[in-house]
Amino acid sequence: MATKTTSENKTKATVAKKTTATAATAKSVSTAKATTKPATKTTKKATEVKPVQKKKILFVASEATPFIQTGGLAEVIGSLSKALAANGNVDVRVVLPLYSDIKKEYRDKFSYIGNIYVHLAWRNQYCGIFEYVKDGVTFYFIDNEFYFKRPGCYGYFDDGERFAFFSRSVLEIMPVVNFYPDVMHCHDWQAALAAIYLKTNYCFRPEYQYIRALFTIHNIEYQGWYSLDLLGDLFDIYGSYQYLVEYKNSINLMKGAIECCERFNTVSPKYADEIKNEYFAHGLDPIVRKNHFKLSGILNGIDDEGYNPAKDTHLFANYTPEDFSNKALCKKGLQKLLGLPQKANTPVIAMITRLVSHKGLDLVTTVIEDLLQDDVQVVLLGTGDAHFEGFFSDLARRYPDKFSANIAFNGDLSRKIYSGSDIFLMPSKSEPCGLSQMIACRYGTLPIVRETGGLYDSIKPLENGYTFANYNAHDMLYVIRQAINDYKNKEEWKKLMYRAATTDFSWGRSAKIYEALYLDMLK
Ligand code: GLC
Repeated sequence: MATKTTSENKTKATVAKKTTATAATAKSVSTAKATTKPATKTTKKATEVKPVQKKKILFVASEATPFIQTGGLAEVIGSLSKALAANGNVDVRVVLPLYSDIKKEYRDKFSYIGNIYVHLAWRNQYCGIFEYVKDGVTFYFIDNEFYFKRPGCYGYFDDGERFAFFSRSVLEIMPVVNFYPDVMHCHDWQAALAAIYLKTNYCFRPEYQYIRALFTIHNIEYQGWYSLDLLGDLFDIYGSYQYLVEYKNSINLMKGAIECCERFNTVSPKYADEIKNEYFAHGLDPIVRKNHFKLSGILNGIDDEGYNPAKDTHLFANYTPEDFSNKALCKKGLQKLLGLPQKANTPVIAMITRLVSHKGLDLVTTVIEDLLQDDVQVVLLGTGDAHFEGFFSDLARRYPDKFSANIAFNGDLSRKIYSGSDIFLMPSKSEPCGLSQMIACRYGTLPIVRETGGLYDSIKPLENGYTFANYNAHDMLYVIRQAINDYKNKEEWKKLMYRAATTDFSWGRSAKIYEALYLDMLK
């Protein structure tokens, strides 16, 4: 069942080596704790042994770049952990499932640490542990082929069981890797059970008693709803804890995590406010309001090294905010690639999005034919609901010179689009944070967004983009036309591009806010 590509002997050696290494670390931790003033005075070197005093943070998540990605969550896990490690104030580690789709180039480099059996109700399942260190972050991968050797990450009938096993494994591997975090930072519903188990089944075990739980909601729409019948048999939650996860006669894992964690947050301040309201909360607003004293909002950043038009090798040409001249080559290359007429002065409007209604596609479908009467080109990249895929494919057939539909998930093309377009449209109905509007800014492509969630927090009208307030197709069209008009004034447009491209969306600031939150939780 296991993916023991490494030979058993080699494995044992690694485990043995690991155990000694971790034992040594454990020893130095206790020494550090026991050390009183005289020892710290001794030599300069002694005071330099900083790492052991760092607070230990363990991310629990279902995806992370560069290993596996289905959405923005992965980017945040990959780039926030990297930024925290770079700041150097915390020891940050990440646990992920070992999906078979994890890129082979990385997978081949993982080292096998050992295996244990994880108990979950009447099940007793194999759990292999792999490790990989990247950019100062230690990643652990939970291996079980029955649960994770399948294409993709989600969408299976037994997702509840898969992530219950994963969450339980997170707690069970702590003694094996000898890492009991100060803060266990769980992301979205797939990791909710880790916080729930910590505060229920594990709360009487001394090693786990001081671990605090932070739960981050990347999108409140996906909550993990299950039938109450599954409480003991599938999730292994005792009847006395039913009240924590029970909601509207069902199990709601996100609700359970909100109740159990010491703190929870969302990925922008505005969204933290919005989810107190029924309109945004997908039924959870009473729980959010009840726990509001634990709630905060921290705006995501982007990996500004990874998204850098001066260095990005996917682009047709590189450029900087000081000199946008090569952006014209990116536009030309994109138009050629997508079979659109290579018109330098026709504004290219881009959308890179999941094709689902809350991304504002209802607004787009309502007015797109009006818009296409103007001198514009519209480029769309994304996959999603069949009726949107059909609608946009049909549009592309009818307007071959003006509309390009790319029904795909394609990292290379997305960067060519960010760099080769003039305007980026993101009219979401709700948006916890959104990363695309920030990436677009970085590439000097001006975003048009609806004022909601992280879009509201990151884009300021005429500062680094355009906004509209009401979820209304004609309000959106009005602002698009305003932008098209402004685009004709090349000098003013360039200034706007510069301000957008130089807006600081790096993780530096937000990573510090997370660090402060961790410390606050440990008071
Ligand atoms: C989810 C949200 C998105 C956010 C991302 C990362 O995908 O829908 O708004 O940017 O998570 O936090």
